[in-house]
Amino acid sequence: MPDLTHVQFEGVPSRRPRHDPGRAFPPRSLDPGHPQPLITGFAADVLATAGLDAAVYRAAPLERRVAACLRTLKAGSPEAASVLLGARPELSAAALSTLLIGVSEFFRDPAVFDVVRSVIIPDLQARPGPVRIWSAGCSTGAELYSMAILLAESGMLDRAWLVGTDCRGDAIAAAREGVFAPAALSRLAPALVDRYFEPAKSGRRIVRTLRRRTIWQVGDVTRVLPDGPWDLVLCRNLVIYLQPHAAGALFGGIHARLSPDGFLVVGKAERPPPARYVPVGRATYRRHDA
Ligand SMILES: C[S@@+](CC[C@H](N)C(=O)[O-])C[C@H]1O[C@@H](n2cnc3c(N)ncnc32)[C@H](O)[C@@H]1O
Repeated sequence: MPDLTHVQFEGVPSRRPRHDPGRAFPPRSLDPGHPQPLITGFAADVLATAGLDAAVYRAAPLERRVAACLRTLKAGSPEAASVLLGARPELSAAALSTLLIGVSEFFRDPAVFDVVRSVIIPDLQARPGPVRIWSAGCSTGAELYSMAILLAESGMLDRAWLVGTDCRGDAIAAAREGVFAPAALSRLAPALVDRYFEPAKSGRRIVRTLRRRTIWQVGDVTRVLPDGPWDLVLCRNLVIYLQPHAAGALFGGIHARLSPDGFLVVGKAERPPPARYVPVGRATYRRHDA
């Protein structure tokens, strides 16, 4: 049976319903023992054009995005969209960005950042030497810049290196630029906006003191992981899109690259394998060696 402990399936009933002999329980689509369907057709073509392996992704969440991709490409059908991509590979970046949901925001899930502030930051402050942080699947950078702000606020920025990787080149280019629309900053305290963002043409730009501590790289986490050791890895809202074998390999690879007391922060619906990570707070874990 595949290990699905990394995913908390939404909609799984907490109690077994009354027996209905005509109905399989749990539903086949949610049964962890049921083989996960593979992506085919247009969604697989988009991934292949971008050099990504369709076999590592769960089909359902990505196939739900196909209609949005067709709108992006102004194509009438998945077949027409595949032909269009073949003829105009330069459209693949826009198609990929629509298919792989890149939603992110500053201090996303504030309860998690409360744990970062109260548990991780004091722990890192007590350690001498550099602080190394990796955001895997960083999208356009709001997550890693949130960490940079916290490090600056706690006086650790000068000894910190923050690395963000994502498989989408356009997301990495935007993260490197560090310009955010006013709406993206609306939930930040005005004092933080004043301190860490400077006016820019189309919004506000992260100040240079923060940008110069960040490194942005295009990379596919299912193939290559940046060498550690990492004191903190943020791998949030990416594993939910992966097949169990790829999620297991990623959590294993991160474990091997964490420093002995390193931390892992995941998305609120994601669960790393309990043999390798011990929980320390909401969606937050410490490396564990059995
Ligand atoms: C929903 S966003 C999460 C952004 C951020 N971590 C957060 O939680 O706010 C998921 C990101 O994972 C990226 N991604 C998906 N597959 C990937 C892969 N194989 N390698 C690297 N990044 C990937 C997507 O491009 C997207 O930017």
